[in-house]
Amino acid sequence: MRYFPIFFDLDGRDVLIVGGGEKALQKVRLLAKTSARLKIVAPDVAEDIANASIPSLTIERRDFTESDLDGAALVFAATDDPDLDARVAAAGRARGLLTNVVDGPSQSNFIMPAIVDRDPIIVAIGTEGAAPILAREIKAKIESWLPAHFGQVAQRAQALRRRLQDSIADPIVRRRTWEALLQGRWRKAILDGDAAVADREFEHQLAAGGRAEPPTGSVALIGCGPGEPDLITLKAQQHLQSADVLVVDRLVNPAILEYARRDAIRIDVGKAPEGDSALQEEINRILVREAMKGHRVVRLKGGDAFVFGRAAEEMSAVRAAGVPVEVVPGITAANACAASIGLPVTLRTKVRQFAVVTGASADGPLELDWPALAQPGQAFAIYMGVRTAQHFADKLLEAGAAPQTPVVIVENGTLANERALATELASAARAISASGIRGPAVIFVGLDWETAGLSRPDKVEVYDPQRVGAGETLQAETVVLGQAG
Ligand SMILES: C[S@@+](CC[C@H](N)C(=O)[O-])C[C@H]1O[C@@H](n2cnc3c(N)ncnc32)[C@H](O)[C@@H]1O
Repeated sequence: MRYFPIFFDLDGRDVLIVGGGEKALQKVRLLAKTSARLKIVAPDVAEDIANASIPSLTIERRDFTESDLDGAALVFAATDDPDLDARVAAAGRARGLLTNVVDGPSQSNFIMPAIVDRDPIIVAIGTEGAAPILAREIKAKIESWLPAHFGQVAQRAQALRRRLQDSIADPIVRRRTWEALLQGRWRKAILDGDAAVADREFEHQLAAGGRAEPPTGSVALIGCGPGEPDLITLKAQQHLQSADVLVVDRLVNPAILEYARRDAIRIDVGKAPEGDSALQEEINRILVREAMKGHRVVRLKGGDAFVFGRAAEEMSAVRAAGVPVEVVPGITAANACAASIGLPVTLRTKVRQFAVVTGASADGPLELDWPALAQPGQAFAIYMGVRTAQHFADKLLEAGAAPQTPVVIVENGTLANERALATELASAARAISASGIRGPAVIFVGLDWETAGLSRPDKVEVYDPQRVGAGETLQAETVVLGQAG
């Protein structure tokens, strides 16, 4: 982000516009919505500007002089003369003034966003000059989405803020009352222009808020999917928007936090891949502590909370404290990774069951039902299995699995740095180390595109065990890009 968006207070400030033609007129129209004092300096001023009857506008029909910059909070060079624009810009910048050359971002030290105006709600959209057409498209979408009188809701809220503040002492009850007003009947009545209903509803909410006990908090365990921000559910998004406290896991993409309120308290509780019970207890304590304060606590988890997400421990700790807990499902890593590489996890007649298994073990050596997993036609996804891939292969081969059983590894699925690698069971561990795969990764066993009648996407690398000799140093070149394994 090169340009930082801020809202600049122009109340009673001087704004200089050099130029008297169309470009100046556009700026004047926009700036006339503010309470700034506007001054146009230009020898020739278009009739439209002269006739605009803007009380805050002074027109001086003469050439620009540097003393015009005295006291200016903003300067616009809006002439059709590039030399004059450059002179104004240089003089403005030399004085450290905020200076904009219309259509000349390289000479400007601020640029103008596209604006959606529902005063006092203002939406500013910028593309740093890269694609103004996109800004216009976004503006049009927001314009159509925000009712024309939307600003009146904010104006009324502003006018009533003090009364509500004085009547409801508890800050959490106050926030809930605002939510009830701004998302419910009060807002609708204002948008409908029905002042009497709006007033009645306000008094009702105020009285209810004044009587209310501080609310009981709650905890929502929400699955945030594999990383790609578009892969969270609408329900998870709604929870994020209303959360007072966010308790965030290591594998949750920070971009997802953009959905949350900026003033929500954020507590990072990153866990090592193998988990740690002491840390888990601390997380349970945090959830209970924050909910007991009356907060809406949202516990963000990678993928789905119920798939290797230690949700049970958190749910029972929260319930034991008498706090309500809700679970919002998310897209688990196996589903997301399979979709990303176009690999179905069941096939109508050929793959009738699909399992998810863990590659990590909290208590000693990993024990799974190896003979069952080694059965022909058995398909499964290993989570947290990068470090134990060799153990897996050894156990499965020992239990009778074919060495050629297809294996596909997807690292950082759905993220910009996603990698996928196809190989066979006998060489899976070597493929992982040779390719520098560290995880997070899902390892699919028993699935391939050929059996599904599909072709492998080009982005899936193929690790060809035939090309690697025993003891040979395994390098990236042993991964044959985009060829059949
Ligand atoms: C503690 S488990 C959490 C699983 C999560 N609850 C879910 O449903 O996806 C962490 C493991 O999930 C898998 N994982 C999570 N995100 C992933 C991603 N973007 N790509 C590949 N694997 C991922 C990896 O196997 C990682 O070691």
